[in-house]
Amino acid sequence: MSELIIVGAGPIGSWVAQAAVDDGIVDRVAAVVDPQPEARARLTAETGADAYPTTVDLPAARNAERALVAFSSRADKVAPEIVRLVSSGYHVVTTCEELAWAPRHIWDAMHTSARSNGRVIVVTGTNPGFIMDRVPLLVASGSRNVSRIVVTRRVDSSTRRESLVRKTGYGLTPEEFAHELAAGRIGHKGLDASARLVARGLLWPYHDVSMRIEPIVVDGVVHGADHRAELSTGDGRSIELRLTMAWKIAEPVDRVQVVGEPPLDVRFEGGYPGDEGTVANVLRGLQRCSELDPGFYRPTDIPLRFGVR
Ligand SMILES: NC(=O)c1ccc[n+]([C@@H]2O[C@H](COP(=O)([O-])OP(=O)(O)OC[C@H]3O[C@@H](n4cnc5c(N)ncnc54)[C@H](OP(=O)(O)O)[C@@H]3O)[C@@H](O)[C@H]2O)c1
Repeated sequence: MSELIIVGAGPIGSWVAQAAVDDGIVDRVAAVVDPQPEARARLTAETGADAYPTTVDLPAARNAERALVAFSSRADKVAPEIVRLVSSGYHVVTTCEELAWAPRHIWDAMHTSARSNGRVIVVTGTNPGFIMDRVPLLVASGSRNVSRIVVTRRVDSSTRRESLVRKTGYGLTPEEFAHELAAGRIGHKGLDASARLVARGLLWPYHDVSMRIEPIVVDGVVHGADHRAELSTGDGRSIELRLTMAWKIAEPVDRVQVVGEPPLDVRFEGGYPGDEGTVANVLRGLQRCSELDPGFYRPTDIPLRFGVR
């Protein structure tokens, strides 16, 4: 019987728990780990899983079971939990944004622990993980002599989960926005990671990514945030990622423009739905765990192969 462990019983963990069983990717959810008693109790009631306040209490894997780790955007918080799980014999899929492009010492720790324990660690999600990195690379692979990629994502935050709305700064004053941004409590995480993944995927050399985050203010109240990541190679090639997340934004869309031969302009009208999309990407990641060689896989390291079991 194949089993799934959920670490972080928030919306993403809860939706994946349900979808993984519905889609037959696992037979059952065996354990839910969350320090928050209410979140833990709700998901264990829904799934019949055992409940644990921390991963320290989890029994070791018996048969290379898979775990979803979805509780923080921060690599320094998530990495030790992943190392513990992998050392206990679990494959791990995570939605941690900062792990999409981890600092060197964390990347090393992830790789070493996956390889030495013969397990797979997959980082995935919508953004980073799909719409502003994997998709642009797939589109760009259909063009020659690519010199510029512009990715635009406009998200209507009123359609998204509460934790994402909070991260856009919705309802704050501009001063509160500046304060929360400086404290690292708001603002999308992982746009620089996506820019680096695209550059790495194209084998483009670059020095650094310039990042800018500004509030979108309506009548003195913050409605959302505008994020820009820009990267250039020094010889004229460049990548620009534009992410706007705001309450009731007009014309939500995802768009990938590639300057190359041929030039390409691909649009997802209405925008790629981030929450359902994350669940789908996590499920693909869970499926791939048993096919991949042991190691640490950033979103663009996962081979694009279709029709393989
Ligand atoms: N890459 C992507 O595209 C993508 C997409 C969606 C989500 N994400 C990320 O995935 C994560 C999950 O999203 P979400 O909206 O479900 O998050 P959430 O609403 O913040 O829920 C996370 C849950 O995990 C709990 N938790 C905190 N520390 C924990 C630990 N050490 N072990 C186990 N559980 C712990 C939290 O409890 P407390 O409330 O007590 O802290 C909370 O119940 C977030 O970091 C989010 O940014 C990434």
